[in-house]
This record gives sequence, C-alpha cells and structure tokens, in this order.
Amino acid sequence: MKGAGVKAENRGNSKLDLGKYYNYNKRMKFGELVKLRYSCRKYKEKPVEREKIAKCIEAARRAPSACNAQPWKFIVLDEESTRCRAASAASSGKYRFSRFIKGAPVLILVLARKSTFLAAAGSFVRNTEFYLIDIGIACEHVVLQASELNLGSCYVGWFNEKKLKKMFGIPSKISIPLLLTIGYPDEKFREKDVVRKRASSDRRNPVDEILFYNGFGESGKKKDNESD
Ligand SMILES: Cc1cc2nc3c(=O)[nH]c(=O)nc-3n(C[C@H](O)[C@H](O)[C@H](O)COP(=O)(O)O)c2cc1C
Repeated sequence: MKGAGVKAENRGNSKLDLGKYYNYNKRMKFGELVKLRYSCRKYKEKPVEREKIAKCIEAARRAPSACNAQPWKFIVLDEESTRCRAASAASSGKYRFSRFIKGAPVLILVLARKSTFLAAAGSFVRNTEFYLIDIGIACEHVVLQASELNLGSCYVGWFNEKKLKKMFGIPSKISIPLLLTIGYPDEKFREKDVVRKRASSDRRNPVDEILFYNGFGESGKKKDNESD
C-alpha cells in the first residue's frame, strides 16, 4: 500500500518535522526511520549512553554478509582524551574538511578485514569487493538503529587512515574504510550545515531515473504513460 505507515503530511516531503519524532518515545516505522536519518555534523555535548551504543553494534552484528564472513570490527571512542586525539589525527592536513568529527561525543572506527577465503574467491571471480559491501550494510544498520534511539550519525570516508592505524596499532591486513560519528543532534544546526548545502544532501534522484522494470532504461512511469 503506497505511503502506508507514513503520516499523510509527510508523504513526498523531504523536510520532516524532526522534533515530532525526536521527542516521542514510540517505536518508529521503517519508512519513517529512513526519512528521519540524515548526516548530522553538529552534536550536543551530552554523552551517549553505552547501552545505546551497544544496541547499534548489535544491529551491525546482525547484518548480512557475503558467505557470512562478517568482516567487521568496531572501535568505539567515547572517552574524551582518546576520542579527541583520534579525531584530530583523522582530520589533520588535507582531511581538515572532516574537522566536524571533533565535536562528536562518539567516534566509531569501522575496521574491515579482507574476508574469508570463500568470500575473497567470490570477490575475485565477480570483480566485486564483497567485504566492502558488507561493511556498508553493517554501518547502515548502525545509523538506522541510532536514528531509532534519537541519535544523530554521520558516515566519514574522508580521513587520515594511516594515522589512526598507527595510533591504535591496527595490523596491516585490517583497514579502516569508514568512521561513524554518533551523538545527540544539535537540530538548530541542520539548516546551517554548509556541507549539507554544498552537497545538496536533501536532493535525491527521482524514482523514474533509478528504477527500471523488465529491462535497462524501462522506467515504470514511462511504461504507464506509453500504455495510455
Ligand atoms: C560511504 C560514505 C562516506 C561519506 N563520507 C563523508 C565524509 O567524509 N564527510 C562528510 O561530511 N559526509 C560524508 N558522508 C555523508 C554524505 O555526504 C551524505 O550521506 C549525503 O550527502 C546524503 O546526505 P544525508 O546523509 O544527509 O541524507 C559519507 C556518506 C557515505 C555513505
């Protein structure tokens, strides 16, 4: 059923009234959760409860992965001095664009290892890095679980991996494809976020540009029009 579970006033509207959700203690429907999530780059100073972080990691643990390889590990930084040291190293020099991570109360280093033999063989034959797909799925579980818990989050791919690996003594066969920031969002900042504005973050390609039925380039919409 089209739009089921989404309040009528929010249908097709990218600007949700977030306050309406953040102050509610109710369970959100999946469609609402997906609309609610956005890349939050400014957080309140309020610390994040470890139980909530544990829930996010549990959601990641439940994620599917090629050959069930589960190629992920997570280092959660919520202790101020370690977190600040890591955030400064990660956003130094050419990575200064990611300075906002210094203001996040929780920084998660997402670690990846190049899969089991079976998954790696599959990746080789298919020329597709399945382990990175697995990591993406696990991270999305984290950020959606965070949203359900009224927490903001942001993926960060632009950071100094080398420095972080050295700082935490991470073995060479393990990489850090992503960082995640988590914290209680400073909602006032959302509209002012220059990164969001520059990246046109609210813009999404229309469905008829990304969805084809029964053949490449055959959008459902076009077909409907044609049969008129
Ligand atoms: C793999 C990945 C890497 C990203 N890296 C960064 C980053 O380094 N810095 C940043 O500010 N945002 C980063 N983002 C967030 C995107 O800019 C954001 O998801 C996109 O603009 C859509 O906006 P929204 O998340 O608010 O819907 C990243 C997102 C993904 C999925």
